[in-house]
Amino acid sequence: MRAITDTVDRSSELFTTNVEAYERDLDVLAERMQFAITGGRGRSRSIQRHHDRGKVLPRDRVDMVIDEGSPFVELSTLAGWGQADDEFPGAGIVTGIGLVHGVPWMFIANDATVKGGSLFPAGIKKHVRAQDIAMENGLGCIYLVDSGGAFLPMQDEVFPDRDHFGGTFHRQARMSAAGLPQLSVVLGGCTAGGAYVPALSDENIMVEGIGRIFLGGPPIVKAALGEVIDPDELGGAALHTRESGVSDHMVGTEAEAYGLLRELCANTNQRRIDAPAGWLDVIEPEPPAHPAEEILGIINADTRIPFDVRQIIARLVDGSRFSEFKPEWGTSIVVGTTRIWGHLVGVIANNGIIFSEDALKATHFIELCNQRAIPLVFLQNTTGYMVGRDSEIGGIAKNGAKMVSAVANCRVPKFTVLIGGSFGAGNYGMCGRGFDPRFLFAWPNSRIATMAADTAETVLTDIRLGGMKGADTTEEEIAEIRRSIRGQYEEQSDPYYATSRLWDDGLISPLDTRDVLGLCLALAARGPGPDAGDRLVYRM
Ligand code: COA
Repeated sequence: MRAITDTVDRSSELFTTNVEAYERDLDVLAERMQFAITGGRGRSRSIQRHHDRGKVLPRDRVDMVIDEGSPFVELSTLAGWGQADDEFPGAGIVTGIGLVHGVPWMFIANDATVKGGSLFPAGIKKHVRAQDIAMENGLGCIYLVDSGGAFLPMQDEVFPDRDHFGGTFHRQARMSAAGLPQLSVVLGGCTAGGAYVPALSDENIMVEGIGRIFLGGPPIVKAALGEVIDPDELGGAALHTRESGVSDHMVGTEAEAYGLLRELCANTNQRRIDAPAGWLDVIEPEPPAHPAEEILGIINADTRIPFDVRQIIARLVDGSRFSEFKPEWGTSIVVGTTRIWGHLVGVIANNGIIFSEDALKATHFIELCNQRAIPLVFLQNTTGYMVGRDSEIGGIAKNGAKMVSAVANCRVPKFTVLIGGSFGAGNYGMCGRGFDPRFLFAWPNSRIATMAADTAETVLTDIRLGGMKGADTTEEEIAEIRRSIRGQYEEQSDPYYATSRLWDDGLISPLDTRDVLGLCLALAARGPGPDAGDRLVYRM
């Protein structure tokens, strides 16, 4: 495989300015991550209270379960960011993938320091998404349960609909039936929805003194029956392991619980992460020839200045080698075969606007990868499909549709990273959320919307003024319309707005992207290969 020619000028002023700007972006990301982990109104008090009760914080709980040195790929840390007055840092729940005895598991851990671990809309979405990832990637689930169930003031947004609380139970039962183990440790006052999680698990452990399971907690029992009852008498570990049989194991401390949990995991007969892939060509990995740190200088802080995506690929893939397909045709899209952590992959990456030829080239390449069962990695940086009369005559609508259709119908695992703009139908053709990539991550410089704020300002102002035909509109009023449209688009295309709503599986640094993709590919390689189906290749 040929090496990508390095064209980056590290000594240029542009490179230095870009690095400085991107480092500021990464500082903001780190600060906001920290807020999700320990920040928020009254949070230090609730964290202290948690510790005073002898309880461990959710991320530390995960650390006590996973193998020493195992990575923990945390998902959607910033879910809920900027919503509900920031009362739910991290959406009150921690999800992610870690190894136990070399086997990857999905962890779903409530954060009782955020509104008693109760779930508001972004929290439910995060729980559901973690389960969907587990299902698609054949992962067992470990629930570290410490939750007051539905966040009652917003019950209409978390209780009744398809992907609300009921949907989490449905998924739990379906995964269990599919042979994906569902294991729980009960670590707090698990009420109502929180109670069904351990009750629906294949096997569960309760920690004496802190773990409780009840459909209605003491306040509900008092309201309903007028009885005042101690929480342990109502649903403590002794009651549930010795009398009701709701629980299978009782231990004295959290540390004992995680030791026992690791023992239970060892008996579940799951494939290790390094189990030989039956269907995908995987070889010894090799680091890229150029450091990922240079990506910070390649991405232009001024988004109007383009960059060559090959230079990004060179810093993500093994040996910076890339076998490019059709490099002389459809040059706004770059496609080719390469390896990430030894896994053979097809990469589809934008160099700006998608023209008809680009769409056809991408379609052809997607079909090739599908025929050869090669997973696809999409690197999105596009303002969308080309508009204008020439483009319409060239059939951009049908050619773009071919690409969209090929992405929708290919059966290989797909992974998407938003490395820049993700605008218009470009988001769809490049395997946005609606096209079910197994994972979708975004860089903190990315932007996602129907169109860029600049374009929206002009288009929507014209539409608005057109609708006000005849009315006298002053220059100030027009300026105000422009400002408000631009403000709306800037706010809503911000990556933090997106990640807060789980349009992605998390914001990640360019520096971590290769490792994250490597883990995603290892998960895919560990599972069954894509089903056969039709694997037609049409020359476009
Ligand atoms: N909905 C809304 N808020 C909830 C909640 C829920 N289901 N569960 C807990 N909270 C809030 C509390 O109001 C409190 O908010 P504040 O910090 O703004 O004062 C915070 O979470 C901590 O709750 P607190 O009761 O002080 O913590 P705790 O650790 O002593 O007890 C629970 C935790 C979960 C056992 C207890 O809060 C409880 O029983 N909650 C009600 C659970 C319930 O009835 N659920 C039914 C769901 S259908």
